[in-house]
Amino acid sequence: MVSMQIPWWGKIGAKLLLSRLPFGYDVWQRLGLFRHGQMDTSEYAIRVFNGHVEKAGLINRLHGKTVLELGPGDSISTAVIAAAHGARAILVDTGAFARSDITPYQELMRVFTKQGLAPLDLSVCRTVDEILARCMAQYMTEGLTSLAQIESESVDLIFSQAVLEHIRKREFREMMQECRRILRPNGICSHQVDLRDHLGGTLNNLCFSQRIWESNFFVKSGFYTNRIRYSQMLQIFSVVGFAVEVTDVRRWTVLPTTRCKMALEFKDMSDEELCVSGFDVLLR
Ligand SMILES: C[S@@+](CC[C@H](N)C(=O)[O-])C[C@H]1O[C@@H](n2cnc3c(N)ncnc32)[C@H](O)[C@@H]1O
Repeated sequence: MVSMQIPWWGKIGAKLLLSRLPFGYDVWQRLGLFRHGQMDTSEYAIRVFNGHVEKAGLINRLHGKTVLELGPGDSISTAVIAAAHGARAILVDTGAFARSDITPYQELMRVFTKQGLAPLDLSVCRTVDEILARCMAQYMTEGLTSLAQIESESVDLIFSQAVLEHIRKREFREMMQECRRILRPNGICSHQVDLRDHLGGTLNNLCFSQRIWESNFFVKSGFYTNRIRYSQMLQIFSVVGFAVEVTDVRRWTVLPTTRCKMALEFKDMSDEELCVSGFDVLLR
């Protein structure tokens, strides 16, 4: 990640430049300059998985179920964790960002063994593909196109961690429609959404016009968030047919970015709307 000392506009400039250099994602990942979250850390991956399973009321009820993670980022850890609970995982991302070495999964095995859990034996697996096959998991890397290929009413739990805000704005509603379609009638979604900008944790992303922010140049530079605000997201969930239950809302006490710097479409929003920095939601 770019150092915290750099101001937000410097980070934008640096990322716009760096993302144009001819290196693959794996190079940036190893350098730690661009990363898709922390799912390659066993403690984080287990905490995220357990957190969503608990919120969805599925503790000790995962056996034989299908769990879909939207946006797993840097690892396929959810495949291994789900398998340890007797469930099958489908992982959907917009690229093959998962690390290609198997160190994170060996570490997961060690943690499970320490906790007295009996995970699948992965000692014979030498590659990520072998681990996926052993866990009967699917890793799909074409975002909306991948979701569209999943059978209707086939998934029991869909979860995401810091992902919904990254879905391209023009695809967001369709992504949610697909989630609704593939969820079993008694299935559930659990999402944790971070509405802060990914430049320094404030709202400086709202200072750009729609035309600039949604241009491919910006979208492909590693700091894109769709800027869909709290009540707008809830509205989309409802419109596509979900029953919405917000379980936590995080707020700034005062606006972290001056309103007058914001683009027109945000300037007129209420403080109450703009001060929501994140939320957790269950959809049925
Ligand atoms: C900030 S990372 C979070 C990764 C992981 N969930 C974590 O907590 O470490 C956001 C992830 O969402 C993925 N993403 C963005 N748009 C997506 C889409 N339309 N479908 C699936 N994944 C998407 C990104 O590729 C990235 O892996």
